[in-house]
Amino acid sequence: MKTSKHTEARSTNEKPLVITVFGGTGDLAQKKLYPALFHLFENDLLPDDFQVFAVARSAYTDQEYQQMVHDSLQNELDDPGKQVQKSFCSHFRYIQGNVKNTQSYVAIDEEIAKLEEHYGRHINRMFYLAVSPRFYSTIFEKMNETKLGDEEGDYWIRLLVEKPFGSDLQSARELDTKLQDIFEERQIFRIDHYLAKTAVQNLIAFRFSNFLFEGSWNKESIKQVHVRMHEDFGIEDRGSFYDSVGALRDVGQNHVLQMLALTTMEGPKRFNAQAIRDARAEALASLRTYTDHEDISNHVVRAQYDGYTDIDSVADASTTETFFQIRAFVENDRWEGVPFYLESGKELTTNTVEVEVIFKEVLPCVCGAEEPHGHENVVTLQMKPDQSIDVRFWAREPGMQYALAEEHMHFSYSDETSERMPDAYEKILYDSIIGDQTLFARSDEVMASWEFITPIITNWEETELHTYETGADPAGLSFTTADSKTAN
Ligand code: BG6
Repeated sequence: MKTSKHTEARSTNEKPLVITVFGGTGDLAQKKLYPALFHLFENDLLPDDFQVFAVARSAYTDQEYQQMVHDSLQNELDDPGKQVQKSFCSHFRYIQGNVKNTQSYVAIDEEIAKLEEHYGRHINRMFYLAVSPRFYSTIFEKMNETKLGDEEGDYWIRLLVEKPFGSDLQSARELDTKLQDIFEERQIFRIDHYLAKTAVQNLIAFRFSNFLFEGSWNKESIKQVHVRMHEDFGIEDRGSFYDSVGALRDVGQNHVLQMLALTTMEGPKRFNAQAIRDARAEALASLRTYTDHEDISNHVVRAQYDGYTDIDSVADASTTETFFQIRAFVENDRWEGVPFYLESGKELTTNTVEVEVIFKEVLPCVCGAEEPHGHENVVTLQMKPDQSIDVRFWAREPGMQYALAEEHMHFSYSDETSERMPDAYEKILYDSIIGDQTLFARSDEVMASWEFITPIITNWEETELHTYETGADPAGLSFTTADSKTAN
């Protein structure tokens, strides 16, 4: 696979940068952010002068904290390289603080002022919320109160916030109002790390750069689409978070719907952040919403794996879903009537994330007298376990007798390159430093996805909760199988 000059990264070295990480001792910071920052650092993709201010409640000296960062790199990366690692860790400072306490924000502000003095010029400021979403609102209020978000000079301030953003439409709106009191949309980077995955971006690269497929990417040619996010592991040690959220909020409202948006959106008018986000938002806003109970029961399945309630910090009588399937419809000219099966679950047979697009059969089929029908083309864009694209097609078998054989055109990054592919968090951090918002969810996208999800969760308690064995094949739970027999 050739890489072109266009893949050269833009410089981030415009000004010194300070990244303040709320939740600096947490898993996200240690397991994802710091390894990602490290890769940017070793590839010379961070400003020469950068500092990370880690904020958390426990007491650490800078040195102790740097040791913690060092240890997490050792755990997460194959060979972090001693010297680079040492120099990387020296960029970290620790600020003991509590997000509920105004004084902590004042302390951050003072540290930033000292750093500016040290550099003798303005510095760009990034704030990363790597804390539990229940603190977002407080952090926004406190930043507003202490004016920590005020851009008052020749520098920028950007805020990175993780999903889930809100727990339903109303709370997401409230949160957004608070956020917009402090920041302009250009400063807000709402993270959905799926958008930053190379293989997820293939959904638009593949569609809009290959006329062969885009020309038939519509209801005339496509029978049904599956967006699957299957995981073969459970909720690990996230019992209390997961139990209050459930699969639909955890990954449905964001990752799964964003994959759907990229699969169904119209071609962006231009190749820029605004046009691409416009197209994604429009696709999400075209989803048919299910508001009454009967509609929901007909189109939504929810289930919980056996043994879920025995997990620490999960309520004994919890009805939180660990699996969902939604038969969704995108109500516009392109997609009218095509079912989109959105499905995710924990503790399933495989660890597979993919979008499978099943085309209609060609009728009448030139299949040979003995052949049964069922010759559909299938395009599968896979994110896990492989990052690949597969096209299933039909060809004549060798031999005297005319018969068709199933064949595949297959592309996989792992066959093409042995180079390490950048992780989604590297892309997130890098793009936010260069100010490219394309791969971040805009306010209207987040609201459109909550508009679709909220009525379903509001009716959850009246929707039957199925149970499944760990390691189960979700086909037994869903209505997909029955549908595929009837639809064409
Ligand atoms: C997170 C969810 O956003 O995405 C997790 O909270 C899920 O429950 C994870 O396991 C999956 O991400 P990835 O990148 O490992 O596929």
